[in-house]
Amino acid sequence: MKHIDAAAHTRGESQYVDDLPQPAEMLYAAVFSSDVAHGKILKLDTAKAGTIDGVVMVLTAADLPGENQIGPIIQDETLLAVDAVHYVGEPVALVVATSPEVAHKAVKNISVKIKELRPVTDPREAFAKGQIIGTPRTFHLGDVDNTWAQCDLIMEGRCDISGQEHVYLETQRARAVPLEGGGMRIHSSTQSPAAVQRAAAKILGLPNNKIEVDVKRIGGGFGGKEDQATAWSCLAALAAWHTGKPVELVLSRHDDIKMTGKRHPYSSDFKIGVTKDGKILAYEVKHYQNSGATADLSTAVLERTLFHSTNSYFVPNVKIFAACCRTNLPPNTAFRGFGGPQGMFVIESAIAKATEKLGMPREEMQYKNLLQEGDMLPYGQRTADTRSRITWDEADKAFNIAAIHKRIDSYNEAHFEIKKGFAVMPICFGISFTNTMLNQASSLVHVYTDGSVGITTGGVEMGQGLITNIAAIAAKALGIRPERIKIESTNTTRVANMSASAASATTDLNGHATLLAIGQILERLKSLLVHEQHLSHAEKITIVDEQVLYDGQPTGWDWPKLVQKAYTSRVALSAHGYYATPGIWFDRTKEKGHPFAYHVFGTAIIEVTVDCLRGTYDINSVKIVHDLGRPINELVDRGQIEGGLAQGLGWMTLEELKFDDTGHYLSNSLATYKLPDVYFMPDLLEVKLLENVDNPRGPYGTKAVGEPPLMYGIGAFFAIRHAMRAFRPKADFPFHSPLTPEKVLMQLHAEVLDNLKDGKLEKKTKRRRDVLAIKAVVLFKQKIENG
Ligand code: MTE
Ligand code: HPA
Ligand code: MOS
Repeated sequence: MKHIDAAAHTRGESQYVDDLPQPAEMLYAAVFSSDVAHGKILKLDTAKAGTIDGVVMVLTAADLPGENQIGPIIQDETLLAVDAVHYVGEPVALVVATSPEVAHKAVKNISVKIKELRPVTDPREAFAKGQIIGTPRTFHLGDVDNTWAQCDLIMEGRCDISGQEHVYLETQRARAVPLEGGGMRIHSSTQSPAAVQRAAAKILGLPNNKIEVDVKRIGGGFGGKEDQATAWSCLAALAAWHTGKPVELVLSRHDDIKMTGKRHPYSSDFKIGVTKDGKILAYEVKHYQNSGATADLSTAVLERTLFHSTNSYFVPNVKIFAACCRTNLPPNTAFRGFGGPQGMFVIESAIAKATEKLGMPREEMQYKNLLQEGDMLPYGQRTADTRSRITWDEADKAFNIAAIHKRIDSYNEAHFEIKKGFAVMPICFGISFTNTMLNQASSLVHVYTDGSVGITTGGVEMGQGLITNIAAIAAKALGIRPERIKIESTNTTRVANMSASAASATTDLNGHATLLAIGQILERLKSLLVHEQHLSHAEKITIVDEQVLYDGQPTGWDWPKLVQKAYTSRVALSAHGYYATPGIWFDRTKEKGHPFAYHVFGTAIIEVTVDCLRGTYDINSVKIVHDLGRPINELVDRGQIEGGLAQGLGWMTLEELKFDDTGHYLSNSLATYKLPDVYFMPDLLEVKLLENVDNPRGPYGTKAVGEPPLMYGIGAFFAIRHAMRAFRPKADFPFHSPLTPEKVLMQLHAEVLDNLKDGKLEKKTKRRRDVLAIKAVVLFKQKIENG
């Protein structure tokens, strides 16, 4: 099945929040936010803004009828600042006006006097100062401390991993519409309607049932709307509550980048102990997560970093320490992979460092340590249906890893300034929310008298293909054409208490819930037919291509006739299904358990070419063997693999999220934040799927797909590094992502640049780095020419 929305998206007909018809008298809100990363508010002056023609009101923290608190896990986040600010972009006041233009103009007329305090932007500094959110956690397996002595080689190192901006196409937005009786309907661009409902109820001092949240679809979330859609929905609701009119709040791209959190940057220390033939005996890592100013989802993200710190490898002795460090940046949040990618990057770096020292191909150590069936992961779960080696072996069979390495070596011998590199990137990603409680979902199925079907689940369509998957699952279960099925908007009055659409688990959870609802309806329909036709075995009834069969033989009944008969016989044609993932648990006091229903495995091979004089590079090919179980919609899943890969490649290479010491983002627009585009994507992208593999825990044997492919992108860093080391074999390059072309150039020619730094260059020139880069190339060429 194609993505159900494909045609309407292409024609521009799909509706998002601000495509809904505009109600009469709608008002528009705009946010006044802090321009200071850390300080005490001395005086907030909104009087002037209030006098501007068209301004209806200006709201501040004092105007909240309920509690000024929207923290999702830890209650440390105000909706509007009270007496202090903690990051640039923190909402301080809200203007409500008759047009967006007036609202934005009025925002410029608000002034605030702040006593500035020194901001902290570095997680290690925050940690040293005791600015820690929650409590640091440690996972143990085996006995690291007593293993170092047995290792032939011990390598230590440090990684600095940059964040990532979500760049969902639809920026954060919401429309709140007052309802009779003091209630509120909120159209929100959120991955988590129930989270918006709870927070809006709280800030308005209303019970949850007074707030209805409706989501038709969102224009991408990527984790950025798992929690952080809440504030904007609450602000719109606050304005609607005060004015009694519908209010829309839309963030501009610039404000969105400024005010919302991103993927968490990490700074990590690793220590790896190996034998000389490449067995990893011990691995110790300390992760300092740059959490930003409030907790948001940071503690949950940190937990997934702990879970994925050994990626796809079995390491018998492990110690993983991780802490959420509070800094003066916007609260960092969920982003595809949810802390897993950062954990994986560090062990891949450790393997790179160890193999470079041993003079061993990186892939040799990777392969030697891949997980095998039944291996113990550091959190106490044993791997089952382990496909680490299977996907690697398949990739090797299809693409011949040794031959690639040989081909690259001989190319590099024959070329001086152009070098090629490659990396193999295996992945192992746990499926289930790490917080067991969240692994529940509901679905409401109505069959109408004409045989058409309407389904509401708790899942949000964000482009990932959820509604297409649910429709395919339901069509298969009912034995009817998918065209008969409509997936309704996600709405808290139809399905309650949904978890966020996240953790790649939305199709699994809501698909299972839908199957349970459909199962009830089918059971009733079969009993009816047994009764009508005097049959003896209800279980022998099946519906195939809309024909009702008994023991595989036609009964003369079809789907519409059966449904019609059920209605006239007063048989219920609606059902609610509830699913809770079985068999999962985790004990945080022991840091052991069985948190994941299953794991997703795969192996990617990434080849690159680096121009070592200019620092520029191309990604030549990405070849993947991925485990989708039995995909219900292979085309949709392939889209997820390609999209995830693109985001992973971008994170590792181009997307440089810079901020200065004052806590201001420097890359705060799409002019300064470089995204991968179609030209950047590999010239060759080949994705092979494991064939005939079932996943007993997914609906119809499917496997979750949303996040895991992002982590293939990590291989790009090591492929580029491989090429760089072909040019400078002895160099010990930092594990500092993203590895932008600028960094490649600077690192390859570090000494030349050092020579240049002693006053030879005009210090004040604005584009000093660019000038340096060019000079470096010129000097380097001279150096070569002079022998
Ligand atoms: N794909 C698209 N097109 N848009 C998105 O926002 N989000 C990703 C992934 N793929 C996203 C996407 C993230 S972060 C997750 S967790 C999953 O989709 C969520 O959807 P799923 O649980 O249905 O896989
Ligand atoms: N993954 C993604 N999102 C989440 C999780 C998780 O494990 N837990 C809470 N939100
Ligand atoms: Mo995805 S980061 O779990 O929304």
